[in-house]
Amino acid sequence: MSFKEKINPAKLPQHVAIIMDGNGRWAKQKGKFRIFGHTNGVKAVRDAVEGAAEAGIKYLTLYAFSTENWNRPKLEVNALMELLVNTIHKETETLMKNNIRLVAIGDLENLPKKCYKELQEAISKTSGNSRMTLNLALNYSSRWEIVAAVKKIASQIKSGELEPEDIDESKFVSQLCTSDMPDPELLIRTSGEHRISNFLMWQISYSELYFTEKLWPDFRREDLFEALVNFQSRERRFGMTSEQLESK
Ligand code: FPP
Repeated sequence: MSFKEKINPAKLPQHVAIIMDGNGRWAKQKGKFRIFGHTNGVKAVRDAVEGAAEAGIKYLTLYAFSTENWNRPKLEVNALMELLVNTIHKETETLMKNNIRLVAIGDLENLPKKCYKELQEAISKTSGNSRMTLNLALNYSSRWEIVAAVKKIASQIKSGELEPEDIDESKFVSQLCTSDMPDPELLIRTSGEHRISNFLMWQISYSELYFTEKLWPDFRREDLFEALVNFQSRERRFGMTSEQLESK
């Protein structure tokens, strides 16, 4: 029985987030430059997106470029930006055919102009699609997002729109980039690293974490299905006891 056949459609997570890691090591193992790993990572992106839509996932968030990634060698950063622009451009038609809506989170306005423009075009072209939302985290980090949310709240207080006593979780969440999506129930990280790396730190408070040794360019939809089956075997208690859950 394949992992796909083992998935219970009634217990699917709505939102899956992925930290795509291991492109550099994958390339190094093959005696190639790091960018060769990123280029091959695009195949894995395509397969994961198609697999997620096929499984019935509603939101798929991919960590494509962090605010810290600017610290990489200039050559790699430039190549990554070019790859992002080209991939978004080339894949928009596939997103349309598959009825997938593209959105993005992060400090998008500070992306290179070409990347920002290409992204906005694809976002607007796919905005009416409804099968699945593909959310790219670009120039994103959780600390950046939280500080930006705090600034927005502070300015609402300064202008008298909001009283400090009125700040609660929902007010705070409304200022996060992901305010219009559910929190991810499942977070996957490839390449055997067990870190969160400044990704969706507020949103993953109750997410199930799944780590695989596979390097990102080798990740395929069957690996995603395996993660989904693993997710479905877990008991999500949200601070309660097993007995309380059973009696619910
Ligand atoms: C992490 O591997 C990967 C990235 C920082 C970039 C991810 C980008 C892509 C897969 C390309 C295109 C993506 C989209 C969404 C169009 P790493 O370089 O940190 O690998 P390492 O840990 O082995 O060095």
